[in-house]
Amino acid sequence: MRRLTFPAGFLWGVATSSHQNEGNNHNNDFWAWEQIPGHVADHSTSGLVADWWRSAEADFDRAADLGLNTLRLSVEWSRLEPQPGVWDSAAFDRYRVMLHGLHERGIRPMVTLHHFSNPVWLAERGGWANPAVVRHFERYVSHVAAELGDLVNVWGTINEPYIYAAMAYMLGDWPPGQRSLLQLAKVMRHQANAHAAAYHAIHQVQPGAQVGVVKHLAGFDPYRPLWPGDRGVAALMDALTNWRFLDAITSGRFKLPLGLGLRRNLIAQGTNDFIGVNYYGRSRLRLHWRDVPVPAPPDLAWPVPWVNREIYPRGLYRFLMKLRRYDRPVYITENGLADSTDLIRPGFLLAHLANVHHAIQDGADVRAYYHWTLVDNYEWTEGWTTRFGLFGLDTETQARTMRRSARLYREIIAANGITEEMVANHAPHIMAQVFDSADEPLPVEASEEDAA
Ligand code: FCB
Repeated sequence: MRRLTFPAGFLWGVATSSHQNEGNNHNNDFWAWEQIPGHVADHSTSGLVADWWRSAEADFDRAADLGLNTLRLSVEWSRLEPQPGVWDSAAFDRYRVMLHGLHERGIRPMVTLHHFSNPVWLAERGGWANPAVVRHFERYVSHVAAELGDLVNVWGTINEPYIYAAMAYMLGDWPPGQRSLLQLAKVMRHQANAHAAAYHAIHQVQPGAQVGVVKHLAGFDPYRPLWPGDRGVAALMDALTNWRFLDAITSGRFKLPLGLGLRRNLIAQGTNDFIGVNYYGRSRLRLHWRDVPVPAPPDLAWPVPWVNREIYPRGLYRFLMKLRRYDRPVYITENGLADSTDLIRPGFLLAHLANVHHAIQDGADVRAYYHWTLVDNYEWTEGWTTRFGLFGLDTETQARTMRRSARLYREIIAANGITEEMVANHAPHIMAQVFDSADEPLPVEASEEDAA
């Protein structure tokens, strides 16, 4: 019987975020954005979401039952600092209770400080396009570290800086709805500075803390591997979206392509104790700048053309191997699939974890895997059209349904690895991907037999 065993002490988790889980976060810019007709795909608003502000503990029990030893959540800036310089002690208390609750269950928290949403007051002051954001973020972070640092040792500064900057300032889909390359460049520079300021602020109050960024890495490959045009487009997208930020916070310099533009020295050099990686898949690009249609399960076919991704587990292996150049431990801070049927998710989980295992065998220093997510979440401007949970959520009744992927994840965690039997039971069609490192996209037509 073949088996892939993970290193002793490997961290098994799920990832979540404040706005997508807590409910009633009405003092942030995303809440305001959702209320405007036309902004959210299914015309929904986040409302109560999974009601974590009142009862996260019931889901922490579910997490403990799965055997998780870590959980990633974010703290909501708009709750903790509802007005500039005004701190809400009741909100800090609630987070203390939640964090305690995790520790009591043997679950180590990882905390993200910025996960897309901003206090309304910050948005009114120009948000991330205003250089003052760096100072505001630094003050907020240093306060949070002082108040919660005894309960948190691993901090993620900013979740997916490029995705946030692009969605909010270049594509105009998220608040403040701007469409400007100039704003995008500015925001990205402010993010690198804010990350660096936060890194130093945390270390000042908590020298032993682990601080890193949570970086989205999207695969870009040429549709026609030998065509120079396709190769060029893929290489450019890869350089711009995947490596710019990580290079900036490693070298301290924020460079634009071809050596153009900003080469300003930052205080950002070496501000990474670990690298957080969110990985969902890849796109294959053609020169004419449009994605190639790829087979995708119904709720993966996100309406934004350039996120019409292909499920490509081997891409995670490839990124993990490339990340070795930064010489830092890697936490896989997000990886998951929108699949309300749960037909494809078990194979997705097994194939990605197998690639993590292969990368570790080949020298990658991967310490943790956080599946996105525990319970169906409110998916930003996709609203409730995408279901990422190991548990399904009925938003009317708040009832949870355990999906078979949750049971599979529990088995994986208990075994600290993957066995041939698990693959045979849950996704026999990917046996080669799991045990022979096959470099191909995951088939999305899971058979009904797999689901049985
Ligand atoms: C990531 C986000 C997370 C969630 C997942 C599906 O890009 O960080 O909040 O929306 O995608």
